[in-house]
Amino acid sequence: MGLGTIGKEVLKWVVLNDQQREVVVRTETFVKDRLHGADSGHDCWHIYRVVKLARTIAKEEKVNQFVVELSALLHDIADAKFHNGDESIGPETARFFLEQQGLDHEIVEHVVSIITHMSFRKEISGSTFRSPEFDVVQDADRLDAIGAIGIARAFSYGGYKRHMLYDPHIKPVKNPTGNHYKKINGPTINHFYEKLLTLKDRMKTATGRALAERRHDYMIGFLNEFYREWEGEF
Ligand code: ADP
Ligand code: NI
Repeated sequence: MGLGTIGKEVLKWVVLNDQQREVVVRTETFVKDRLHGADSGHDCWHIYRVVKLARTIAKEEKVNQFVVELSALLHDIADAKFHNGDESIGPETARFFLEQQGLDHEIVEHVVSIITHMSFRKEISGSTFRSPEFDVVQDADRLDAIGAIGIARAFSYGGYKRHMLYDPHIKPVKNPTGNHYKKINGPTINHFYEKLLTLKDRMKTATGRALAERRHDYMIGFLNEFYREWEGEF
């Protein structure tokens, strides 16, 4: 079950014409090649999960499925964190690839806009870009940042950055602004309060909200258990 199987699953129910299907398969190959060796939070299995979640959500929404597929596949094509914080590199890489695929200009622009505005940092910086396809893909990406997978990704990121697990003396930043958010270096437990626990109420589709409930509750359970164990309780 690699990213390469996603294209075959498309055939099951996503209504795409032959040309669109070929573009989706080419995009999968491009993404798989580009993300080879990426960090565990943004590797091609993150893309795999986001594409699947986006399809689940899209079933309940009136959206252009082609735009949803391409945006989910390309949304993390280049991580600003590994390009000196340059947030334009991902959208520009996607644009360069899409412009070679013989697509309508509007499709390319829409996908590029979606991935330009998707991040949590963009939202807390006041970004207002919306479209039904944007809502689907952003909810899918955020579902993969919460729940059991979200916990695993957070500690993986924290380990990579050599952050502490937890320090009761360092309080989470309340409602960080976009610029401040980028600079936070606190313990990983604080990230739950700074971002992860806020995602449930930021979901934009009804399906996204429903799916977020269970994952959110799972994180609350994890935090309660974490604090119990921190105090040596049994
Ligand atoms: P996204 O791709 O969701 O816009 P990021 O690129 O900032 O977000 O983060 C990728 C993953 O790393 C997510 O699961 C996110 O929650 C996690 N992460 C980001 N910043 C931190 C942090 N300071 N501490 C722990 N995990 C983090
Ligand atoms: Ni992502």
